Amino acid sequence: MSPPLLRVNNLEVVYHHTVQVLKGLSLSVPEGAIVALLGSNGAGKTTTLKAISGLLPLEDGEIVDGDVEFRGASIAGKLPHRIARDGLFQVMEGRRIFEHLTVEENLEVASYARTDGSDLGDSLRKVFHYFPRLRERRRQLGGYLSGGEQQMLAIGRALVAGPSLLLLDEPSLGLSPLLCQEIFRIIEAINKDEKVSILLVEQNARMALAISRHAYILENGKVVLDGPSERLREDRDVQEFYLGSRAGGRGSYRDVKHYKRRKRWLS
Ligand SMILES: Nc1ncnc2c1ncn2[C@@H]1O[C@H](COP(=O)(O)OP(=O)(O)OP(=O)(O)O)[C@@H](O)[C@H]1O
Ligand SMILES: [Mg+2]
Repeated sequence: MSPPLLRVNNLEVVYHHTVQVLKGLSLSVPEGAIVALLGSNGAGKTTTLKAISGLLPLEDGEIVDGDVEFRGASIAGKLPHRIARDGLFQVMEGRRIFEHLTVEENLEVASYARTDGSDLGDSLRKVFHYFPRLRERRRQLGGYLSGGEQQMLAIGRALVAGPSLLLLDEPSLGLSPLLCQEIFRIIEAINKDEKVSILLVEQNARMALAISRHAYILENGKVVLDGPSERLREDRDVQEFYLGSRAGGRGSYRDVKHYKRRKRWLS
């Protein structure tokens, strides 16, 4: 059997040589799949993506144990631009675009990492096909785009690079429910039509579980639950904690579990 496109094995990550954030994290993304990585604030989701895409050293972070394999070969410790050229591209949280460049220039700049040898014009047509709003605003400065349009541009920039695996960090953050739906629909279309595999970090668990094949729930630097997304959607604890059926907002998935165990002991 061929290895999954991405495999993360027992990853341990430390910042500033002192703060351990990932504590033996393992996950995999099969070729062609959308895989969701869920978890509350500070669980280590962004750190996981940065460890995969090689961006950790920029923040004085380090992989101290474990491995990251892309197409069966280790990429741990490789420089981020080389990883991008291999076809693995991260769209950062918070829509990192160039505010003083136009939409079109933002897309052109991204083409340096292109791996498929295609023409820039073809790439632009592809991006505008998925994001017609960007075509309308192609000569506008990035900084003047709305939040949703900036998110589209951030994803569009990744598309220009011709990736085989996209790491998306909270693409729905701060978007209206309608725009949120649009972004998820486009992510699904990119996955199906462009055959781009996707590791999706999201706080919007409902949407992420709706479009993904498999999901991992991260707490405190470790996976506490994983399974086919369809099954997780049915899981009572996941519903209670992540899908909004619990009054009073989010605690920790573990808290729900521990609370339930205590309840059982007391009864
Ligand atoms: N550069 C850094 N230096 C030190 N600690 C960091 C650094 N970046 C993140 N951390 C810490 O690592 C932990 C995990 O952070 P991370 O950003 O990976 O979480 P997250 O799951 O993406 O959270 P959120 O949902 O809020 O984006 C947090 O406790 C955070 O404070
Ligand atoms: Mg994050």
